[in-house]
Amino acid sequence: MIVLGIESSCDETAAAVLADGRRVLSNVVASQDAIHAPYGGVVPELASRRHLEAIGPVIEKALADAGVKLPDLDGIVVTQGPGLVGSLLIGCSVAKSLAYVHRKPLAGVNHLEGHIYAAFLTDDPPEYPFLALVVSGGHTALYHAGAPLQYALVGQTRDDAAGEAFDKVAKLLGLGFPGGPIIQRVAEGGDPKAIAFPLAQMTDGARDFSFSGIKTSVSLHVKRRAPLSPAQVADVAASFQAGVVKMLVRKAIRAALHLGVKRVVLTGGVAANGPLRAALGASAAEHGIALHIPPPCFCTDNAAMITAAGTARLLAGERAPLSMNARPDWALA
Ligand code: KG4
Ligand code: ZN
Repeated sequence: MIVLGIESSCDETAAAVLADGRRVLSNVVASQDAIHAPYGGVVPELASRRHLEAIGPVIEKALADAGVKLPDLDGIVVTQGPGLVGSLLIGCSVAKSLAYVHRKPLAGVNHLEGHIYAAFLTDDPPEYPFLALVVSGGHTALYHAGAPLQYALVGQTRDDAAGEAFDKVAKLLGLGFPGGPIIQRVAEGGDPKAIAFPLAQMTDGARDFSFSGIKTSVSLHVKRRAPLSPAQVADVAASFQAGVVKMLVRKAIRAALHLGVKRVVLTGGVAANGPLRAALGASAAEHGIALHIPPPCFCTDNAAMITAAGTARLLAGERAPLSMNARPDWALA
């Protein structure tokens, strides 16, 4: 089954072609980082305009790289939500037009389910049930995946997403955008124990996350000590990163142990973070939990993961009508 998938929920215009939802025949991602960098965050209006320019060439390249033509496809899938409405609309409109003209089955994909399906693009896909920690620029949540296409929400952030905290801290340290990869790089020259930023604890015992507290602590620390030397900036970056990693690892492992789940998937843009991958790996091994982390290129936004999830939906018999539309607030569970 050859499927074309389209992703345009935020600031990457992406298209991929997969065989049987597992074999990546092509995976094209046009990043908009350079467009948004001067603003220190994604500007929705600029994002949708750029999607409009990029989506045609990106799809053409994905088809050419895969060596297939539109009539060869067995289906077309697209990210329907959650995300920026203006961005989602571009992908949905194009997918619907192609499905209509070429008479192909169409399916809408939840972006977070796409992130989870990135784990199925590896040689070692997880067996069900598993716990998925999805950490991205827009979301930080733990899902229990009991069976294919079935998810229960275990916990989520009550304020900022982890990636959003990386981006905001990078901005206030004057490091640029997107913040995650830059903080990771700068942190390599710093001491993760230099500053003990407070870590959020849920007083009601919930499995939720919170990152606004550590972000505010970093902001106050930086204001009090300004101007910071490069060595001090590295220490702040390293200490902040260590704090976020500790909170994520602690919550994920505790939830897995409590639910008696033996497999954990780490995915989403922040899952590209080296220290997070290492720390969760160490803690999982210590507790006899198998950890599945997709390679970084499938962790950050891409269309291969959307196509993998969409193929599973098509194989399950799902069909989206041509009246389908963007669902900017679509909750996975
Ligand atoms: O999944 P993603 O590409 O887009 C969303 O769905 O949001 O995630 C983007 C987020 C950004 O906040 C970015 O700073 C973060 O992932 N990120 C990282 C790293 N690479 C990307 N955060 C920490 N360390 C990284 N290496
Ligand atoms: Zn994402």
